[in-house]
Amino acid sequence: MNKTGHDDGYLNLLSHDSFANGVPHRTFDRLRKEDPVSWTDGDNETKGFWSLTRYADIALANRDSQVFSSAQGIRLEDQSHEEYLARKTFQETDPPEHADTRRRVNPQFAARPIAAYEPVIRTLATDIVDKAIAQSEFDVVEAIAKQLPMMMLGRILGLPDEDLHFLVEKGDALIGNSDPDFTSTVIDKMDTSAYRMMPFRSPAGMDLYDYAANVMAGNVKLDKTGVLAQVLNAEESLDELEFKNFFCLLVAAGNDTTRYSIAMALYLLSQHPELITRLKSGDCWDTCADEFIRLASPTMHFRRTATRDYQLHDKLIREGDKVLLWFVSGSRDEAVFNNPHLPVLDRKPNRHLAFGQGGPHVCLGRYLAKLEVQVVLQELVRRITVIEALEEPEWTRSNFICGVKRLTVKVA
Ligand code: HEM
Repeated sequence: MNKTGHDDGYLNLLSHDSFANGVPHRTFDRLRKEDPVSWTDGDNETKGFWSLTRYADIALANRDSQVFSSAQGIRLEDQSHEEYLARKTFQETDPPEHADTRRRVNPQFAARPIAAYEPVIRTLATDIVDKAIAQSEFDVVEAIAKQLPMMMLGRILGLPDEDLHFLVEKGDALIGNSDPDFTSTVIDKMDTSAYRMMPFRSPAGMDLYDYAANVMAGNVKLDKTGVLAQVLNAEESLDELEFKNFFCLLVAAGNDTTRYSIAMALYLLSQHPELITRLKSGDCWDTCADEFIRLASPTMHFRRTATRDYQLHDKLIREGDKVLLWFVSGSRDEAVFNNPHLPVLDRKPNRHLAFGQGGPHVCLGRYLAKLEVQVVLQELVRRITVIEALEEPEWTRSNFICGVKRLTVKVA
């Protein structure tokens, strides 16, 4: 499978290079089988950590935020308390503090208000797909997968269209901080300590902070019905730092994740042509988005920190240890899913973990993401019979977010 870092089942999960050719599923398959609570040593930059790779263990830890806390950081990077406080969003808090903020943003992202966006999503998707297939060959990520999430982020947040390219570029640099295609300050290749107080330890965080400050100061023309205007005008609004970090979280979380899910769906359609026929039959639209997102699982892990010593299977996790919940592995656990590596478009039930289900931090944007994936596929398969990959896909270089970042195709 790999051009470099061949996945022999023993790749080092600390190294971003282990993911540069796609998710090392052989390694995860082996870990689930042989070493489900596995330890990875750290290096000069990052302390060592535990990896949970089985569905049941991830679900257990995700539920128990008293023992497996989000309040000391949610990514692998070690943060001082000062850095944690500077960059904290509600995702980096535990109940009850977490619930207090989340309830203020939940209503706008609930299933019903999101369903009301379907006509807008369809109009945008139709336009995007028409433009893409008018070209004889195109990069599915640039032409399709990237476009819809970016436009919908603008609609939901209430931001002007002309600012979206800038925001998406900055969001890419945040979340892709280990991939030289997305940032010039690659986190494991250079000294990024100057940015340690910025989201994702990235200079792009500073640009997004400045933009958020302009939003707060009224210098950005906001749609009054959008999430940002509602949050700012609410009786219990967020303070300045909370707002800036909330803004960065939404730009980072709502964009690349959905892009990589759509890109994975398009890649799979190119690898399994029969899926297009199946989608055209129209009998699996309710279930297919979840299945594509299960297989994409773009945010591969989130971290927790043990608040006390905890015995799990034969391993003793010590208080203060970092514990990674590998949702990407749990969602392919053969103990829960038949044919876990194959797309089964009518899979039901499909209790995958790609959205961090079962815990207090379950993805805020899941209804939006699923609707976008579904609608863009509907509009695409209405117009094509074949999608042919003209090259191997290129994957993001990151042990946090994984996805197809480039794939040239031709459609018929
Ligand atoms: C397929 C697309 C997506 C995937 C796979 C995904 C994945 C996830 C995961 C795994 C979590 C749990 C994090 C944790 O356990 O700490 C999460 C949380 C979150 N997601 Fe998503 N996400 C997606 C799309 C979106 C979108 C479209 C938005 C917003 C527009 C969004 C906003 C958030 C926010 C704000 C949180 C934090 C929730 C909290 O801490 O209570 N996500 N997402």
